[in-house]
Amino acid sequence: MTKIIAIDGPSASGKGTIARRLAHHFGYTYLNSGALYRLAAYLALEAKLDLKDPSPENLNRIVEIFLLANVAFEDEKVILTDEYGTRDIWPIIGSEQMGGYAATISPYPLLRIAVREFQRQQIRGKGLVAEGRDMTTEVFIDADVKLYLDATAQVRAERRYKEEMKRNNLGEDATRYNEILIAIKKRDDVDKNREMGALKIAEDAYVIDTSSLNRDEVFEEAKKVCQEKLIDA
Ligand code: DC
Repeated sequence: MTKIIAIDGPSASGKGTIARRLAHHFGYTYLNSGALYRLAAYLALEAKLDLKDPSPENLNRIVEIFLLANVAFEDEKVILTDEYGTRDIWPIIGSEQMGGYAATISPYPLLRIAVREFQRQQIRGKGLVAEGRDMTTEVFIDADVKLYLDATAQVRAERRYKEEMKRNNLGEDATRYNEILIAIKKRDDVDKNREMGALKIAEDAYVIDTSSLNRDEVFEEAKKVCQEKLIDA
């Protein structure tokens, strides 16, 4: 039986990094569920659809375009093939802005159902590490291991801010930090208050507060929990 490690947590909690490291460590497949909502938002925008229009015609169209997409996931890459050719669109859909667009369409139940089907089809081989917002509570409720990674909004904003400053070789900018903090709080609000797929802590999830831990410490703790649970499973 394919083993499943499901990980949830808010935006910038570090779950992507940990999920990838766990997948690598155990030789499992990695599923970035947020990439699917980002992809759906990207395709809808390419088709000039209004992400905020909740009419059934518009939602059907968003879902239809998502279902028809010729896409392959390879580690961090999202390889899309369309009339413009074959290319990795992660550099575009991985942006903070596209994360916001993904959050905008994420409450639509029809889309969530389509995405959920795709996610469950990824169960094959030795194991799967799936990360997102509803992996532990809705998509993989029978997962062998459930983890919830958390950190205060301030710590998460600071991590994003430092990454951005380093990437762009910029100096201190308190205004930018505040902008990121506001965006993170806004995203938390959307993620925690959807009717379907809302971010919450599953009763049987192991919670890791990463606020005062570095990446290696989080990984070691997550790995230990997985090893214990996978033996029991
Ligand atoms: O994990 P991420 O930042 O790439 O996710 C982007 C958005 O996608 C997130 O704010 C809400 C949506 N999402 C979701 O609704 N359910 C998931 N399992 C993963 C992401």
